[in-house]
Amino acid sequence: MLDFSAIALAVHAIAATVWVGGMFFAYTVLRPSLGPFEPQQRLTLWNDVFTRFFIWVWVAVIALPVSGYLLVFIYFGGFGTVGLHVHIMHLLGLIMIGLFLLLFFTPYRHFQSAVNANEWPTAARHLNNIRRIVGINTILGLITIAVGASGRLWG
Ligand code: HEM
Repeated sequence: MLDFSAIALAVHAIAATVWVGGMFFAYTVLRPSLGPFEPQQRLTLWNDVFTRFFIWVWVAVIALPVSGYLLVFIYFGGFGTVGLHVHIMHLLGLIMIGLFLLLFFTPYRHFQSAVNANEWPTAARHLNNIRRIVGINTILGLITIAVGASGRLWG
């Protein structure tokens, strides 16, 4: 029977897939494909991409800890009884969420203002900072997924 914890775990896995999959696509597929475009076109496109993608990232950064803590406290009975993999996932998850908040409220805000003001070199500089943070979060996200999905089999 599909119980509450199963629903929480399904939401958790979907949120992780959407967030980390989206970053992976942006970093490894979209970014190199935009090389031939003029800076103005490229930066405007990134602005549109972020506007749409970050809505889903906000959903994921709320859904992941909510569903994760529900699992810890309702299914496992607290952090005292969970496996090492959940502690590692928890730490990595909080770092990832912190990095996203940093990205959203600092370089992304500056990037948006620069694009709206047609200040292309400034926008490119802030995009570079966004790229660095997304690169780190993509790697952390892949590690977190590997840890979260495989941890129960660690023995
Ligand atoms: C706030 C921090 C988080 C908490 C408290 C948390 C908690 C949990 C718990 C309790 C489980 C079930 C573990 C088990 O069944 O052995 C789980 C599974 C999982 N978590 Fe997290 N998690 C957090 C953040 C994240 C993040 C940021 C990601 C990825 C970006 C992630 C990805 C996963 C995955 C892929 C699974 C396995 C799903 C499955 O295949 O069953 N978690 N998490």
